[in-house]
Amino acid sequence: MSVAGASSDPYGLYGVGVLVTGASSGLGAHFAKILAAQGAKVGVAARRRDRLGQLVDAISAAGGHAAALTLDVQDEGSIIAGFDAAEAALGPIDVVVNNAGINARGLATDISAADFDQVMAVNVRGVFLCAREGARRMIARGSRRSERGRVINIASIGAHTVLPGLTAYCASKAAVAMMTRSLAREWARQGISVNALCPGYVETEINASWLQEEGGQRMVQGFPRRRLMRADAIDNSLLFLAGAHSTATTGAIITIDDGQSL
Ligand SMILES: NC(=O)c1ccc[n+]([C@@H]2O[C@H](COP(=O)([O-])OP(=O)(O)OC[C@H]3O[C@@H](n4cnc5c(N)ncnc54)[C@H](OP(=O)(O)O)[C@@H]3O)[C@@H](O)[C@H]2O)c1
Repeated sequence: MSVAGASSDPYGLYGVGVLVTGASSGLGAHFAKILAAQGAKVGVAARRRDRLGQLVDAISAAGGHAAALTLDVQDEGSIIAGFDAAEAALGPIDVVVNNAGINARGLATDISAADFDQVMAVNVRGVFLCAREGARRMIARGSRRSERGRVINIASIGAHTVLPGLTAYCASKAAVAMMTRSLAREWARQGISVNALCPGYVETEINASWLQEEGGQRMVQGFPRRRLMRADAIDNSLLFLAGAHSTATTGAIITIDDGQSL
């Protein structure tokens, strides 16, 4: 057994094609960088092309390999075109990180039907369409034999914990958790592992203004460790799930929240 090989590529990600949605900011940009640092070829997908260009430049400057893909997860045609562009630029995509997400903050009595629908369209339907497109391609390429297909859905502690003022968001993330288990069951014999990560609060564009408000600061003081989590707390779990050693891990819903939901 070669220990040297294992240490130079501990997660088995070197040369693997990965597509990360919602990579133009926050967690998605962070995930793209850490995957590229492990030698993965990373398609970075979102709507804001300028942000993606800057991310590709940063990854390239660090010696990594990435391509920018303009993709709206609400639009099925855009998803298919995004996968086509990713595979043309990087080769086969064997790992999909479904990270794009939005919220709609407010009392349930105030939230509009349009806001509710949009949260579901991005956080649930978008995750389904990207997982389905990735899986169709993995299966056609022989993931059943290689057992190398991976779908990682970024849910939230909101999948299992009430986050006040975020009813639509929490409902959408609970749906993502159940969808993860359902897809994991369906694709188990197709060699595709499907898992979800449920991060706690990390400061990003989705929550920065709320975290500055009094309510947000009170919430943080109510966490057992009285602090927000850092994005890099998720790194090892994400890399493990994306990599070669997670074949037997499928249908898992993994909470990484610094104890915030306890
Ligand atoms: N930060 C946290 O505390 C936290 C905790 C738990 C879970 N999460 C989850 O982590 C994921 C990333 O969130 P974040 O915190 O990094 O927030 P963020 O900085 O606001 O990033 C959200 C990303 O989603 C993309 N996006 C939104 N709508 C899209 C669409 N229709 N098509 C394609 N991309 C779209 C945005 O890019 P464009 O606007 O350029 O399209 C952006 O890159 C989300 O699913 C979120 O629910 C976050």
